Amino acid sequence: MNILEGHGLTKAFGGRVAVDNVDFTLAEGEILGLIGPNGAGKTTLFNLISGALSIDAGTVTLTDSDAGTRRVSGLKPHKICHLGIARTFQAAKNFPGMSLYDNILSSAQFGNKHISDKDAKAKTDKVIEFTGLEPLMDKSVKDIPLAGQKRLEVARALATNPSILLLDEVMAGLNPSEVEESMRLVTKINESGITIIMIEHVMKAIMSICGRILVLHHGQKLAEGSPEEISSDKSVIEVYLGG
Ligand SMILES: Nc1ncnc2c1ncn2[C@@H]1O[C@H](COP(=O)(O)OP(=O)(O)OP(=O)(O)O)[C@@H](O)[C@H]1O
Ligand SMILES: [Mg+2]
Repeated sequence: MNILEGHGLTKAFGGRVAVDNVDFTLAEGEILGLIGPNGAGKTTLFNLISGALSIDAGTVTLTDSDAGTRRVSGLKPHKICHLGIARTFQAAKNFPGMSLYDNILSSAQFGNKHISDKDAKAKTDKVIEFTGLEPLMDKSVKDIPLAGQKRLEVARALATNPSILLLDEVMAGLNPSEVEESMRLVTKINESGITIIMIEHVMKAIMSICGRILVLHHGQKLAEGSPEEISSDKSVIEVYLGG
């Protein structure tokens, strides 16, 4: 079953069309990779799905077994979050002066409608354990190295209790062993029942954990397919993967 669909999604900044008539589907349970050169429109597409930016044209619909299919495009970001779509930010948007624990707690409070303090704390404890962040939980975020901050970004999204998680370059800047750890975390999140779209330039991660990949180029869909199909696609090799 497709739980998220985009049709004709379009967004221009001034004269530049950043996302140009893009269709996509996301099947329940999958990890969809979103790749393409710098400036291809990947983050803008996440901004359209999550409501961070208004859409010029097109629709996004969400389907769940209880509520059926409804349109999410046009809703405010917090409403979209409450419906179960969470995202991370390419440039982390945490609160640097607060502890890691309080950062996650604030996401639990923000992202879950009418949650009690007790339940928000329980959710925070659970997410901290799930993401392995216990050793850093009392530290001020500004004192945490990059890998911890990237993991925090994921933890904050998880604290909102998503069914769909949009990950924007959570592996950027990590060393090879940190990338391995991040890949394990993404796989574990997916195995816990969360459907994922993952933007990443780390091809090793994309090729090994995504079931399907969508390639954007100049705001348009260039290709879509399995990792094998994408890695042997001539147009994708030419504009992005190189020789
Ligand atoms: N808020 C904005 N205002 C104006 N232009 C923007 C804005 N956001 C993105 N753009 C432009 O839209 C295009 C697509 O940008 P986007 O950030 O979506 O690319 P990307 O695929 O995420 O690239 P990267 O891999 O470098 O993160 C770029 O030309 C960018 O400069
Ligand atoms: Mg980006």
